[in-house]
Amino acid sequence: MLRVGILVSGGGTNLQAILDAIDNGTITNASVEVVISNNAGAYALERARKHNIAAECLSPKEFSDREEFNQALIAKVDSYHLDLIVLAGFLVKIPESMIAKYRNKIINIHPSLIPSFCGVGFYGLKVHEAALARGVKITGATVHFVDEGMDSGPIILQKAVEVLPGDTPEILQRRVMEQAEWIILPKAIDMIANGNI
Ligand code: GAR
Repeated sequence: MLRVGILVSGGGTNLQAILDAIDNGTITNASVEVVISNNAGAYALERARKHNIAAECLSPKEFSDREEFNQALIAKVDSYHLDLIVLAGFLVKIPESMIAKYRNKIINIHPSLIPSFCGVGFYGLKVHEAALARGVKITGATVHFVDEGMDSGPIILQKAVEVLPGDTPEILQRRVMEQAEWIILPKAIDMIANGNI
């Protein structure tokens, strides 16, 4: 059984997609052991509690500097003996020492077709604003392994989504979630849990 930890900052719809996929058998051989957020108000933590999953909050504000926060984050993650760490809308930079320690064991979901609209400053709605500003007709989502760069690790899965006339960033974000993110993130976890990658 793959022991999975999920790191989140916000609403946690991707977390919910993972929990649903485990419940309905789309993901097999995996269990979510903990959900960790940098933000105490993240609704994702509530989703975890409703599912009887350990919900932990570690806010950088509670620490005197970033290095102290980083060490606490690594210690917290270590304490759950995880096989896979999933960044599901986690907007904190992962410390390099954690990336080295968990090489090829951290995956991220990004709401565009990498290498478009990714890297520093591209997160959440900003990604969709940039896609609309450029006028692309196809966007999508990417699941990739996390390396030391920003959105630069090896790609695991991608799925394309159409941009439609009249789209706002919010409408496009929702379509990318429904048609891509909530499908490929659970699929990638199932592939890893079953040795298909
Ligand atoms: C998702 O769209 C995810 O792809 C994005 O944040 C959102 C989190 O939503 N992540 C990034 O932009 C990372 N660069 P959720 O909390 O509802 O899953």
